[in-house]
Amino acid sequence: MGIHNFFFSYINNFFLIHLLFWMGSGSSSDSSECDLFAGEWVKDASYPLYWPETCPFIEREFRCQGNGRPDLIYTHYRWQPLGCKLLRFNGQDFLERVRGKSIMFVGDSLSRNQWQSLTCMLHSSVPKSNYTLDRVGDVSIFTFTDYNVKVMLDRNVYLVDIVKKDIGRVLELDSIKGSKLWIGIDMLIFNTWHWWSRRGPTQPWDYIQEGNQIMKDMNRMKAFEKALRTWASWVDANIDPSKVKVFYQGISPSHYNGTLWDEPCANSCVRETTPVVGSSYPGGLPRAVSVLNSVLNTIKKPVSLLNITTLSLLRKDGHPSIYGLGGPTITDCSHWCLPGVPDTWNEILYNLI
Ligand SMILES: *[C@@H]1O[C@H](CO)[C@@H](O)[C@H](O)[C@H]1NC(C)=O
Ligand SMILES: *[C@@H]1O[C@H](CO)[C@@H](O)[C@H](O)[C@H]1NC(C)=O
Ligand SMILES: *[C@@H]1O[C@H](CO)[C@@H](O)[C@H](O)[C@H]1NC(C)=O
Repeated sequence: MGIHNFFFSYINNFFLIHLLFWMGSGSSSDSSECDLFAGEWVKDASYPLYWPETCPFIEREFRCQGNGRPDLIYTHYRWQPLGCKLLRFNGQDFLERVRGKSIMFVGDSLSRNQWQSLTCMLHSSVPKSNYTLDRVGDVSIFTFTDYNVKVMLDRNVYLVDIVKKDIGRVLELDSIKGSKLWIGIDMLIFNTWHWWSRRGPTQPWDYIQEGNQIMKDMNRMKAFEKALRTWASWVDANIDPSKVKVFYQGISPSHYNGTLWDEPCANSCVRETTPVVGSSYPGGLPRAVSVLNSVLNTIKKPVSLLNITTLSLLRKDGHPSIYGLGGPTITDCSHWCLPGVPDTWNEILYNLI
């Protein structure tokens, strides 16, 4: 961690012995000691790690350049932690390390964003290697056949269940039967948050249930917390840490209000082309972060938080904005362009495994 303690021992008037103690386990590039999530964005022309042409399967939703985004500077940034350097992503090495294993992202479209990013990063590292892309129900399966590696996405926006009943669709905060798809997977990366604030016609449930109580609605932050606790209990009851690595993606932030990055006149993220300078975000952290942290603190099994919130908050320039699925009429400041910010989430994931 670069904490150096100097002890000066005076043996006598003529000798001075300097003893240098390195605190911690080693050199200042030891990433196990360094907070990979505190840092700043620096320009680096050797990024991005791939181009859309080398990743033919990027979905239109994230394919900003293909949708007409004219600026490219936002793709040439590298995340620089304050205390150390990230190991540059090496897809071949990643695939060797997870040979024969299965990786699954579980969550909403932000999970799809990170899943697509990882498959692009891996595929463009080994472009001649065979792959298959299949879909079974809600699970998309990208298989690197030559490595016997599966990189999967289970679309499950709340983690807990929505059950069809006579009264309608019920979001059951205590029920997590969808978890049957997660058994036997070697690496799981969970996420839920963005759908908890949905209301109106795109809200996919009619009632919400906690214990035996069925309600029309409840405080959404409380509902989010309750669901996370259900998921946390599942982790504690089902994960064998010697076999399975569990990650939580962290809260991916949106950029709809320029006041939060000191540009009150900004029209959300539209026409933002560079990150916030420095390592802190003027608007602070979204409220969901403290709920997530408090639940993660109760889990007994090891769960690594990909604490991507602040580094992503700095990237007001990273969203599709008017170059997303909705085209110029719908501004998307929630998802991320690819290549782009989720590549860094995966580069950090690579540094952690
Ligand atoms: C890809 O699959 C084909 C047909 O199964 C096989 O001939 C080829 O060797 C594979 N490529 C690699 C790089 O293993
Ligand atoms: C933007 O954020 C500021 C500061 O938190 C707040 O006062 C303002 O109401 C927000 N604007 C909108 C449109 O939400
Ligand atoms: C995540 O990082 C932020 C700073 O970026 C920090 O304030 C927060 O405590 C971290 N959360 C956890 C759980 O480490």
